[in-house]
Amino acid sequence: MVYITRRERFSSAHKLENKNFNKEENTNIFGSCYNMHGHNYELFVTVKGKVDKETGFVTNLKDLKKILKSYVISKLDHQFINDVSFMKGKIASTENVCIAIWNELEKPIKNKLNCKLFCVKVLETENNIFEYFGK
Ligand code: NI
Repeated sequence: MVYITRRERFSSAHKLENKNFNKEENTNIFGSCYNMHGHNYELFVTVKGKVDKETGFVTNLKDLKKILKSYVISKLDHQFINDVSFMKGKIASTENVCIAIWNELEKPIKNKLNCKLFCVKVLETENNIFEYFGK
């Protein structure tokens, strides 16, 4: 097996809020993250697969790039994460963003790319990094 990682970037706003809590409770838990603010995120998507003898590739990175753009980046970049279709009803934490990105990508990668999703990693800041490897 060979593991390949593709990086993408997106810039988005979010606000950490539990809608079941009042303003004071949200402020106590989330602090200044209860205010709308933005990040320049980096997304690292790792896939794994066998090297095809005819191409020398695990998968064509152009195809992986297209899937990342259409299923994830086009929906998140310059958007308010709390309102993004695959984040509806969830707290817009980067933990939940990681899981939601995995759920968006798992099937198209398996069905279209002849390899498997291995890891979704999101850098929110250079000090805060989140990884999801599936269930
Ligand atoms: Ni934030």
